[in-house]
Amino acid sequence: IAYPDYLRLLPKTELHCHFASTMNAPLFIELADRYGVALRSTDPATLFDFDDLRDFLVAFRAAHDVLRAPDDFARVAYEGVRSAVADGNLRYREYFVNPQYFASRGLAYPDVIDPIIDGLRRAETDYGVGFRVIAAINRRESPESAVEMVRQVLAHPRPEVVGIGQDDLTPEDTEDPARFADAYALAAAHGLLRTAHVAETDRALPSAVRDALEVLDCDRLDHGYRIMDDPALVELALARGVAFTTTPISTTICTGWHLDPSHRIRGMIEAGLTVTVSTDDAMFFRTDLGREYTEGLLEMGVSAETAKRIALNGVDAAWCDDAQKARLR
Ligand code: ADE
Ligand code: ZN
Repeated sequence: IAYPDYLRLLPKTELHCHFASTMNAPLFIELADRYGVALRSTDPATLFDFDDLRDFLVAFRAAHDVLRAPDDFARVAYEGVRSAVADGNLRYREYFVNPQYFASRGLAYPDVIDPIIDGLRRAETDYGVGFRVIAAINRRESPESAVEMVRQVLAHPRPEVVGIGQDDLTPEDTEDPARFADAYALAAAHGLLRTAHVAETDRALPSAVRDALEVLDCDRLDHGYRIMDDPALVELALARGVAFTTTPISTTICTGWHLDPSHRIRGMIEAGLTVTVSTDDAMFFRTDLGREYTEGLLEMGVSAETAKRIALNGVDAAWCDDAQKARLR
């Protein structure tokens, strides 16, 4: 079997994808049309052309505006699983859902989370793809509203929602993990697991990795690439045994870094960090889990053996129970 075929067929988990970005482009255009949401283009060839992370985030925010009725959420959930199984042999997935985007549009937390879980449960029955949900703090909003979001999660407990994470950026388009210390402490006190988007681009400071581990007490980290700019942080992450979700194709757009053997993700693997691979935002970056492996890992010069290790890291680092992990291995 040829190496790219092997990579595409390898059974995979995905621990870092944003729910709205698992939408398929035709459905996005259909829903935008139904609700009269103006898109920058209706031609998929130009709709998803982004200069950088900041430019992408404008479109990412808008995508939440086309999700309004329960059936919209459930359809995106179900159809997104079907595509990911076909495109990269997905077996298990964790989704970031940002309730704050929807709250600002008049939807309460259960209005969002319940139909999403219904759709994902149906997909699990039909395709055998397990899942968990991570409530994402909107970094553009205040630390107080992040605490309020965590309170909502705690007030409507669902066993599928196992942790908190983040999306978007501060109003200055910077990262500042320590801003959300109160929300993370509240989540920790109630047994929610914690991850954070950190050190994603050249604009972010490597020290965000330290803040996420020492101030937010994160169990996992998303992106984290600039850890490679500070060897002391690599030692810290190794000592903590923390896993990273990396997203090769999204980095080419959000950072402009090339996928070659000098890429920081390859450096993270060589340094012995626990690296996993995800799509981040499949629709927007015109990627899928198969492409992350065949193009992303291949162009960084990752061996077949290491690719398999990365796929298994995605099982080890998952936030499901041990019985489910055993089935995934
Ligand atoms: N929202 C969706 N993807 C994101 C990313 N990579 N960084 C920040 N916010 C996001
Ligand atoms: Zn992300």
